[in-house]
Amino acid sequence: MTVLFADVVGSMDIAAAVGAERLREIMAGVVGRGAAVVQRYGGTMDKFTGDGLMAVFGAPKSLEDHAIRACLAALDLQSETLRLADEVQRRDGIDLELRVGLNSGQVVAGEIGSGVPGYTAIGEQVGFAQRMESAAPPGGVMLSESTAHLVDKTAVLADPELVRIKGRDEPVPARRLFAVVSGHGAAAGTESTLVGRRWEMAALEAMVEQAIRGRGDVVGMAGPPGIGKSRVAREAAALAMNRGFEVVWTYCESHAKDVPFLVVSNLLRTVIGVTDLDGTDARARIRERIPDADPQDLLLLDDLLGAADPDVALPPIDPDARRRRLTALINAASLARTTPALYIIEDAHWIDAVSESMLTDFLTALPRTLSMALITCRPEYEGALTRVPGAQTIALAPLDDSETVTLLAELLGPDPSVGELGEIMVSRVGGIPFFAEEIVRDLTERGVLRGQRGAYVCRTPVTEVSVPATLQATIGARIDRLDAPAKRVLSAAAVIGSRFDTELLTGLGVEPVVDELIGAELIDQVRFTPRAQYAFHHPLIRAVAYESQLKSDRAEWHRRLAVAIQQRDPDSVDESAALIAEHLQAAGDLRAAYDWHMRASAWSTNRDITAARVSWERARQIADALPDDDPGRTAMRIAPRTMLSVSSWRAAESDSSERFEELRDLCTGAGDKASLAIGMTGPVSELMWSGHTRDASRLASEQMALLESIADPALTIGAAYGVMVIKAAACEIADLLHWSQTVIDLADGDPTKGANFAMGSPLAAAIALRGFGRSWLGRPGWREDFDDASAMARRSDPVTHALLITGINRLAIENGVLRADEFPLREIEETLRIAERSSGDTALSTVKLSFGAALTYRSTLADRRRGLELVTQVRDTWLRERTRLYLVPTAELAIARERAGRGERDRAIAMMRSALEKLFQMQQLGLCVVPTADLVEALLERRADGDIAEAKRSIDRLVNMPDYAGSAVCEIWLLRLRALLCRARGEDIAYQDFVNRYRTMADSLGFERHIAMAEAM
Ligand SMILES: Nc1ncnc2c1ncn2[C@@H]1O[C@H](COP(=O)(O)OP(=O)(O)OP(=O)(O)O)[C@@H](O)[C@H]1O
Ligand SMILES: [Mg+2]
Repeated sequence: MTVLFADVVGSMDIAAAVGAERLREIMAGVVGRGAAVVQRYGGTMDKFTGDGLMAVFGAPKSLEDHAIRACLAALDLQSETLRLADEVQRRDGIDLELRVGLNSGQVVAGEIGSGVPGYTAIGEQVGFAQRMESAAPPGGVMLSESTAHLVDKTAVLADPELVRIKGRDEPVPARRLFAVVSGHGAAAGTESTLVGRRWEMAALEAMVEQAIRGRGDVVGMAGPPGIGKSRVAREAAALAMNRGFEVVWTYCESHAKDVPFLVVSNLLRTVIGVTDLDGTDARARIRERIPDADPQDLLLLDDLLGAADPDVALPPIDPDARRRRLTALINAASLARTTPALYIIEDAHWIDAVSESMLTDFLTALPRTLSMALITCRPEYEGALTRVPGAQTIALAPLDDSETVTLLAELLGPDPSVGELGEIMVSRVGGIPFFAEEIVRDLTERGVLRGQRGAYVCRTPVTEVSVPATLQATIGARIDRLDAPAKRVLSAAAVIGSRFDTELLTGLGVEPVVDELIGAELIDQVRFTPRAQYAFHHPLIRAVAYESQLKSDRAEWHRRLAVAIQQRDPDSVDESAALIAEHLQAAGDLRAAYDWHMRASAWSTNRDITAARVSWERARQIADALPDDDPGRTAMRIAPRTMLSVSSWRAAESDSSERFEELRDLCTGAGDKASLAIGMTGPVSELMWSGHTRDASRLASEQMALLESIADPALTIGAAYGVMVIKAAACEIADLLHWSQTVIDLADGDPTKGANFAMGSPLAAAIALRGFGRSWLGRPGWREDFDDASAMARRSDPVTHALLITGINRLAIENGVLRADEFPLREIEETLRIAERSSGDTALSTVKLSFGAALTYRSTLADRRRGLELVTQVRDTWLRERTRLYLVPTAELAIARERAGRGERDRAIAMMRSALEKLFQMQQLGLCVVPTADLVEALLERRADGDIAEAKRSIDRLVNMPDYAGSAVCEIWLLRLRALLCRARGEDIAYQDFVNRYRTMADSLGFERHIAMAEAM
């Protein structure tokens, strides 16, 4: 059994500082946590001392792994105390620290009554545990030699030290405990000494030092398999732990590259400490760890960590907003950390896309924290994680010959009979340490080497020794030698992944016999409680164990595994859908795999579009690979393509025209108009966004014609919003009026009919856009439309509300129809704040652009400043992220107008000119009239050489543009501009004439801002 002793450091001083009562409260906190931890690891609380506690592991119930359990409990106890210490520091301003000591041995047990839960341990060993406790540094855990001996294979320990303890004259040996290894590979205890890697370790040490000073860092470590990345990571971890870092490991797995969220979720589960908890317990722990978070944010986090309450619906939040909020939540938590942490992400070449991008966001915050991240990967990985701003990269080179010699000497030992063998091996292993280790294991198993590690002898003449040619062959030969049952375990495990537990093995019908495998160092036990968990000793061993199986055997494992995963947690199969799909696909059950991919995409759609797109892509590949005569094939090829096309505007890369043509062919062949029409949404938006407004508009018309022929009102209404926006931008006002009227008729008074993620009230949008069309042509009814649409928008969801009110006002104010000072500023600020919590990036930035642009017309300086700030902010984001570039000129025009108003005329004019040219180029003619007017006015105010001529040319361009024929908005601006031109030329009579006509037209149209401007002339 192992005895654990824990004591609060300097409890007398604490009592003096905070009083006895508060001390009791603090102690209750420590002991309460301690009791929970002890229970977690199957120990028994023995007693509470005045300022600490004592617990026993392995008695009265005997536990084989009592020492490791006690170590785990000691470490958890320290980290729990650290958390409590945070609170105590904040509240009382004092340091709360704990010392823990462990000792193992035979203990005489009996009922010697202290009245505490029926068991008391006595004996010399108990006293020794207490001595270890007093020898431990504050915050540390000290092990006696007996405990250290039991755990040295799985624990990270400091070198032995001699400590003086009460009651002994001679100092006794003790070792400090840093961590229990739950990583891949051997524990520090059995590893050979680190050879070389001097400067790599120095660099890592420097980064650790820097992180302690609040300048965290991200470092990538790249190199081929077996070269020592994980080893250097383990060394770095030990170093960091020595400096008080919490170390968190997470692993990417080759078979889970397409399983979204896996890595990020595992990492966060470990950080928050919910790895072994589920349901209610996990949620409670999350709330305990992140106390002041927004309740809805916490629901999102629960969901990400796979701990969502099945009875609580996921809040309706756009994946973009979900991402923003989770990132803000995590980053705030990592900024708030007061103790340093090292996050190790192993094998990033296998990371899934969603985890990769989420982690990238988290890592970006590290330079302002006490934490650092170490990412290991093979050289082929060039993903985002290594390109985090400020990230360092260390490329591990093979060991050189002299280093290899040193390593081999350590592995083989000094006996002359192995000397020559070592020489042959140096050239064979090519500086890959793992190859050297595996050859030695191979030779030992074959009986060529006798003795033990570091002390072998070789009886076979060197000329007769054959050494496998490659690392893979060496591993393969070792696996071949296994007994059938062990081989079976290894084969099944290789299909599960690099980490596996007995539960899944049993689920596959495999008896989990692991001793031989552990003995051969093919696998390691990486967890002991609450359930044993194992890991392949090295990823290459898993790869060989996987590859060397018969394909048909492997397929059978995959098939069984898919079933076992479904049975394991039947309530959360949707979460595992992507994984199940991968296994079914590997099993060759293509149709079933297709269904699971589609199911996975449905689950991901509300969480992350990239993830959903990965699943659709996988489904598409399967459908394409089905035999030609498969009856469902065409439909299966169409469905994922449709979704890929619809969502293409959400994807980072967006040129899907080829894809879309495939979809068109398939749909035409199959007579599937609905899928084609829905799928068109993607290319329409892409054309629009790449500045091909006319093409976008043409395709949009085609889409609407298709939809009308299908006659599904909800579908037509849903698609029409995007189409109307394009028609307005392209200045195709007749079409705009046609489609807005169609929607108004089809919706038949139902504001949410055809609602979708882009628009919560298509009817309100249609009325607003009809109002815009009417005002553009100077037809009556626009004011009622604006009022009706605004009223309806206010009853809609916040995003729709903000989108429509800002949209209507911005266009109407710009065109001169409405006055800016009636803009409902406060209402929109409020709505925007709400919308920010739930809406997509696109909708949100559109709102900000419109809102900002509208504000730049206000009379108060503060409002104009706020407007400028919003517009600049969205423009900068678009430029930085290289998205929505087609909106940049519009934003720049608003910025330039504001600048011109402040007298920065030269810069403003240059900016206006180039932005306006871009708008004309992109054929966004609906947006060119006002900017032209702005430019003309600025030119006429400046009146430098050529300005008047340029103003005249700009006016003429509007006049000659056939698209503006019949536009009241264009006509009224032209009256104003001509008046200004006459004044600039000194043509007073003509000026007066134009002003009169301008005033009359403004009055008769009721265009308010024009009325005011005309008054002022
Ligand atoms: N410099 C070294 N000195 C001594 N042993 C080493 C050294 N580098 C690596 N090893 C040993 O070689 C083995 C393989 O190293 P490791 O697992 O770190 O490889 P890796 O680069 O992470 O490979 P993979 O890409 O497959 O994960 C380990 O047992 C490790 O302890
Ligand atoms: Mg590795």
